[in-house]
Amino acid sequence: MTGEPCDTNRAVIRRPTRRFLRMAVFTAALAGVLAACTRDYPYNSLAPAGPVAEKQAGLFWLVFWIAAVVFVLVEGALVYALWRFRRRSTDDRPKQVHGNTRLEIAWTIIPALLLAGVAVPTVGTIFDLAESPPGAMRVEVVGHQWWWEIRYPDLQLVTANEVHIPTGEQVVFELTSKDVIHSFSVPRLAGKQDVVPGRTNTLNFSATEPGTYRGQCQEYCGLSHAYMRFRVIAHEPADFEAWVQSELAQAAAPEAGSLAEQVLPTCLACHSINGVEGPTGPPQTPAPDLTHIGSRQTIAAGKLPNTEDGMATWLRDPPAVKAGSKMPDYNLTEDEIDALVEYLRSLK
Ligand code: CUA
Repeated sequence: MTGEPCDTNRAVIRRPTRRFLRMAVFTAALAGVLAACTRDYPYNSLAPAGPVAEKQAGLFWLVFWIAAVVFVLVEGALVYALWRFRRRSTDDRPKQVHGNTRLEIAWTIIPALLLAGVAVPTVGTIFDLAESPPGAMRVEVVGHQWWWEIRYPDLQLVTANEVHIPTGEQVVFELTSKDVIHSFSVPRLAGKQDVVPGRTNTLNFSATEPGTYRGQCQEYCGLSHAYMRFRVIAHEPADFEAWVQSELAQAAAPEAGSLAEQVLPTCLACHSINGVEGPTGPPQTPAPDLTHIGSRQTIAAGKLPNTEDGMATWLRDPPAVKAGSKMPDYNLTEDEIDALVEYLRSLK
């Protein structure tokens, strides 16, 4: 059979039905987007995992639903007016009016009330979140192009790119930068905070459940900004204490006469390993502390998995992995790379 069956079929579905179907598809898509928004994707601030993020998400949803009601009412009134006062014939003209004091007062007062309804809880939450309990655990975070230095001043601990915290305890982060402006952000635990050279900004948060929460620099800071990632690892308090004890342990030097021992001084010009003396004292160029590098989940600030392959790939040519990397390509031989990988991975 020939002809145009599609057109015939379309004619069968009447216009109002088609309009209804289109609305249904749109509504289903919107519901799908909203449902996806609240899933626990690693960087989803609408899937909060701690009290600070919960308060911030609560504020978001309050404003969202107020805006949604306003949108539906305003668009509804608009569509109704378009239909009700549509032109019915060529000489049709609606009644002409000028000004309406009552309406004007109403549409001034209603938005003012709405703004107050948004402002009161917002200002309250801002002051509430700025408070940190006295004696809270402090963590100093120093931003570098393109990694994070993590210091625990009260525990005499230094690490990099992975922040360990105990669950249920509010932690105060003191943020500063050694070079340009960065931004410290762990979306599931708290909103972001700028990391500015020459000043210290603070951010408080805590995690309710043990787990690994992804963080990311959120201020464009140069070539490898996108690879300036970090992780917050929340432990039960007893496990956190165990982590602290293992981090306080010094590292063993490479075996005397080994290839690793010959190559390591090059690394120690910039990196520190607690327990292993550098060739010229403490490093002048800051680079991530390597004392317990073997126990980290990732290397190169989240760019590579902490595996033999990952570490070898990094040592072979750092700037090829991470554009602009301050660590140059040292043209290490495969044997030197193998020796270093074996030694570094032993630093648990
Ligand atoms: Cu640091 Cu972007």
